[in-house]
Amino acid sequence: MRRSRILSPAAAAVEWPLADPLQPLAFPEIFGRTAPVEVDLGCGDGSFLAAMAERHLERNYLGCERMIGRVRSACRRIAARGLTNARIVRVELLAGVTELLPAASVDVCHLLFPDPWPKRRHHCRRIFTEEFLRRLLSALKPGGVLHLATDDADYFGQMQRVLGGTPGLEEMEELPDWPVTTFEQRFRALGSPVHRVLLRKVSEVM
Ligand SMILES: C[S@@+](CC[C@H](N)C(=O)[O-])C[C@H]1O[C@@H](n2cnc3c(N)ncnc32)[C@H](O)[C@@H]1O
Repeated sequence: MRRSRILSPAAAAVEWPLADPLQPLAFPEIFGRTAPVEVDLGCGDGSFLAAMAERHLERNYLGCERMIGRVRSACRRIAARGLTNARIVRVELLAGVTELLPAASVDVCHLLFPDPWPKRRHHCRRIFTEEFLRRLLSALKPGGVLHLATDDADYFGQMQRVLGGTPGLEEMEELPDWPVTTFEQRFRALGSPVHRVLLRKVSEVM
């Protein structure tokens, strides 16, 4: 059965409307307070974002997603839990990271199971490139954390090559006990290995 396109007022209020897609976001305005910010890039149905926001009420969570159906699902999920520390913006990731995230404003950036584009001729569509990483690192605060995960071994290899060529990052040994995303649940059920890396920004990257 298709879900209604109508959102309850509470769910509709979870989506942060972009008045000007070129204007950097003001987190204190979005969340009504100043607190550490975590961003989930390509948040899908928002299950990871909502679970994190519920666990860490003292932090602010922003989900970025381009598909309207997933934006609605994420908004419903967050509203159903009564969370006021999570918001969703509907945006293209590259534009979102470049235009919307102010420099040195984000404490933790999650990029979890980005579309893998497994065919060789489609690899150029993968979001995680040197340019994307450079923009992500600009948005991260000094000491901020980048969390990447994928089930696609080839994509993980690409991520590691890009990371290996980027100074100012330090791999973290300890992996926090974070919730499992919807796609991760699917991959685990299929017995697919999950590749994950956590890095800390230790210095500015030009
Ligand atoms: C494979 S799903 C993973 C969703 C979620 N992170 C999870 O692990 O369950 C990738 C998500 O990223 C979104 N996405 C992919 N490319 C995007 C882009 N360029 N801009 C915004 N969202 C994007 C897709 O719509 C999809 O919801």
